[in-house]
Amino acid sequence: MKKLFVKDLEVSSEITDFFMIKSFDIKQDRNGKRYLDITLSDMTGEVNGKKWDIEQMGSDEISKLVAGKIMKIKAEVTEWRDTKQLKIMKIRFANESDEINKRDFIKAAPENPKDMYEFILSTIDDFEDEELKKLCKSIYEDNREKIMYYPAAMSNHHAEYAGLLWHIKRMLKAGIKMCEVYTNLNRDLLLAGIAIHDIEKLNEIESDENGISPGYSFEGQMIGHIVQGVRMVHNRSMELGIGYEKMILLEHMILSHHYEPEFGSPKRPLFPEAEMLHHLDNIDAKMFDMEESLMMTEEGKFGEKIWTLDNRRIYKKKF
Ligand SMILES: [Fe+2]
Ligand SMILES: [Fe+2]
Repeated sequence: MKKLFVKDLEVSSEITDFFMIKSFDIKQDRNGKRYLDITLSDMTGEVNGKKWDIEQMGSDEISKLVAGKIMKIKAEVTEWRDTKQLKIMKIRFANESDEINKRDFIKAAPENPKDMYEFILSTIDDFEDEELKKLCKSIYEDNREKIMYYPAAMSNHHAEYAGLLWHIKRMLKAGIKMCEVYTNLNRDLLLAGIAIHDIEKLNEIESDENGISPGYSFEGQMIGHIVQGVRMVHNRSMELGIGYEKMILLEHMILSHHYEPEFGSPKRPLFPEAEMLHHLDNIDAKMFDMEESLMMTEEGKFGEKIWTLDNRRIYKKKF
């Protein structure tokens, strides 16, 4: 039987199909009754579902729920605040006799991780600055295994298999072009900043080998990829004998890349490469979120509200 994908769900229809658990929570309604709040996904997107009569499930089943597990679901597709939602009637774990193609469930970056990794490494290899080359190369080589599958986020932009490589590759390509226009930029410094700005996401979030993240690591929760990144670059630069000013500039680029204090940056960019890094990061995240929304939207219509885009509904043109 052909799988019904999240992007093709139709409001008011009743469905019975398989989806992967992206995240879940046991919550309480106003009357103190427990219910299951679950986000289900497949390669085309994700949808939130509620199972109101959770007691039907049994505590044994509930305790086995975990991100990445595939569930068979019978539900009604409803709409709440312009967003599709599932009212789940039945839910059970998929078993061996179910015919499931695991690949239907895994959202992946559009390019092969090995090719993306090689693009990044060859870009680093082209640096004229030997110190920046040495530093970036050593970071990438040490993280080679993990970066092949890591997402760039738990949810939001690039939350997919090899999403971090995809984010960095696209930013590098955009950064190379920007240097042709804004010739005052130091190309190696900008590209080095791009290559390493989010690298500590590898230690901030947890991920299985399918790029599905169950949550933040202890260190990620406590410190976060910005400060983790600054610390890592500092230590490694000392080890490799990178010049003091260069080390501080790179640390500042990581520190300021989220721009606003409320988004985690204690400093705003204080030189052009740091400013540009922030904008390229933002462009890539926004373009990703728009592309995702359009994938789920019919031509000539507005998509669902996207909270990372300030609840805008993105229009899909007909031509
Ligand atoms: Fe970041
Ligand atoms: Fe980023």
